[in-house]
Amino acid sequence: MLNVQGLFTEYVSDKGVVVKAAQDVTFEVPQGKLFTLLGPSGCGKTTTLRSIAGLEKPVSGSIEVNGKPVYSSADKVFVPPNKRGFGMVFQSYAIWPHMTVFQNASFPLEVGNKKYSTQEIRQRVMRVLESVELDAYHERDATRLSGGQQQRLALARALVMEPQLLLLDEPLSNLDSKLREKMRFELKKIQRELGITTIYVTHDQSEALALSHEIAVMRNGRIMQMGTPRDIYERPNSEFVADFVGTINFVQATVRSTDPDQNRMVVDSEIGVVQVPMNEAFHVGEKVQVCVRPEDVHLSDENPPDTHTNHYLGSVFAKIFLGDVLDFQVKVNDKVMLARVHPSQKTPVGAPIHIVLDPSDWIVIKAQASDKH
Ligand SMILES: Nc1ncnc2c1ncn2[C@@H]1O[C@H](COP(=O)(O)OP(=O)(O)O)[C@@H](O)[C@H]1O
Ligand SMILES: [Mg+2]
Repeated sequence: MLNVQGLFTEYVSDKGVVVKAAQDVTFEVPQGKLFTLLGPSGCGKTTTLRSIAGLEKPVSGSIEVNGKPVYSSADKVFVPPNKRGFGMVFQSYAIWPHMTVFQNASFPLEVGNKKYSTQEIRQRVMRVLESVELDAYHERDATRLSGGQQQRLALARALVMEPQLLLLDEPLSNLDSKLREKMRFELKKIQRELGITTIYVTHDQSEALALSHEIAVMRNGRIMQMGTPRDIYERPNSEFVADFVGTINFVQATVRSTDPDQNRMVVDSEIGVVQVPMNEAFHVGEKVQVCVRPEDVHLSDENPPDTHTNHYLGSVFAKIFLGDVLDFQVKVNDKVMLARVHPSQKTPVGAPIHIVLDPSDWIVIKAQASDKH
């Protein structure tokens, strides 16, 4: 449905320095899917979204919607933003005061190029207010809505034109954490029900994992990895992605032996000898990082049966109670490993503790010099 190819967008700063905000950004979004641009502040998410909207003019590349270019540097096409037919909600969405909920939602229809009859406006507005569950409030003064309701109203206003593409730039970031989580579910439900193709921008990895069909992780203007939430979380392709999405233990290691037929290998690491998967070519002596998520670090007070290949003795260094889970920092040799376990694990600080790690839970990442800065 949306096809972005080789998009470069640049700014010239006050001092005349060129900022390469989006570099070779390429992705495709099928009809009805929610695609997320995820990355730290300044990585080029908003720039990419604004380029799709037509609010920035890229240097090169192409943007097509259903096979029709809205931008193409090669063919010198630039469709102005108001002719692209996209709906948008930005981080700093504004609800118009002195207007009712209905008037806020109907405003785009009143001022648009196309003229609608009063009857048509009423039907469209009530339908869209229903989809965000604000129809019962249509006569209310918009400023008398809660934060979450105002957010839904901003969404209704973007949806009322029945856009073919919805662009959302950190739409939940103004809400407190509890409401943000609730709105996450509501947004997902609305998007799935309406089946509207959506580009979602966020720096919040849990939001991205919860909402998306597909995620592109960005850094320094470039897409580092693209995949389903599961792909990104379970098979990060770089230290950057592994670290940015979720929490992970990084362990420095050197390949000791490889067994390509069984897709496994053995490494010497900071915590000892570890058996890990071998999903790509590695050679003996190669430096790698072996990584494991804290929820995959299993703890035991007793010595586990010696059928376990990856088994280490450590000591409890610190504990943090988080309510539903308990984070243990366990020292193995000089390495502190984070384990996220059930709060019923009662081992006191300073006591010995066993760590058991399933070989298949490890992620192996090639040492990348370019990843260090
Ligand atoms: N109008 C602008 N003029 C100059 N530089 C800009 C402008 N907008 C954004 N930038 C720069 O472009 C880069 C990407 O910004 P942005 O797309 O807003 O990132 P994000 O949305 O991921 O936080 C940043 O380095 C930012 O400082
Ligand atoms: Mg931004």
